[in-house]
Amino acid sequence: MVVIFALACKAGIYEIDKAWIVNMSNIQYLEYWGNNFPWSFKGENASYEVRRRQRYELQDYMHEAVGFENYRHKRILEVGCGGGVDSAEFARNGAEVISLDFTSEGTRATRDTLREAGATPNVVRASAEKLPFRSGCFDCVYSFGVLHHIPKIEIVIDEIAGTLKVGGDLICMVYNKESLLYAYSILFLHRNEVADENELLRRYSERNLGCPYTRAYNKKEACELLYENFDNVEAKVFFDVIDTPGARKVKIRVPPEYGLGWHIILNGKRKKTI
Ligand SMILES: C[S@@+](CC[C@H](N)C(=O)[O-])C[C@H]1O[C@@H](n2cnc3c(N)ncnc32)[C@H](O)[C@@H]1O
Repeated sequence: MVVIFALACKAGIYEIDKAWIVNMSNIQYLEYWGNNFPWSFKGENASYEVRRRQRYELQDYMHEAVGFENYRHKRILEVGCGGGVDSAEFARNGAEVISLDFTSEGTRATRDTLREAGATPNVVRASAEKLPFRSGCFDCVYSFGVLHHIPKIEIVIDEIAGTLKVGGDLICMVYNKESLLYAYSILFLHRNEVADENELLRRYSERNLGCPYTRAYNKKEACELLYENFDNVEAKVFFDVIDTPGARKVKIRVPPEYGLGWHIILNGKRKKTI
């Protein structure tokens, strides 16, 4: 695989056949994410260092919860890399990172972010529903805020497990249904619009309206996603924030043991046999 990258990544991006991407992924999904890839500050020209600071000041739990520094000299796949700030964080901590997204906007932004961070871009444009890697080649798969936007999440988790070495780590973030943000900012503030909870979540989970699909999980449901393919499954809740009518991601003080934050960080180790 490394050889493929050396040959194919002259432009920093290895593109899987576009027709294939469109077949695999509903065009509506590509369009939404192409126009709304996060932490890219499209048109704002913010430098990588500014974007990095903003991301980890807002999501200030991430370094502790993810452990970017634990993968020095390890090979990591980031699934749904968006603007690439987390890929760069692994790379600057010494990991060999392969970044994957199904939008051309996300892959280009990630390539540019990695270059700006002084890292070598290994970026693949492909769908998470069919990962183009041989089995057992990654020490860690990382996916932040992505899996809950894919209706066929079970297929993606099987694909991820297949690319991991036995004992390799999965680290992912999914939204917490038992959070204040879900109860207040999504269900309560928009209670007069439609009765369907899933529709409200889809509409208001992201910064921009129109997200084609979002699902939220409680800790038990999130862990259940992993049991088939992973051992040592753990779910921890972080990010005590709400969206108010005037501002997004307002930090609030809640005792951590209440577990009412918006993000569930899920960890598991790939089973010997899957
Ligand atoms: C909410 S963003 C998260 C981006 C990044 N992980 C972050 O935390 O800023 C979701 C990302 O997943 C990508 N994505 C969604 N569905 C995908 C799929 N089926 N295959 C590959 N990438 C996907 C989108 O293009 C988008 O970049």
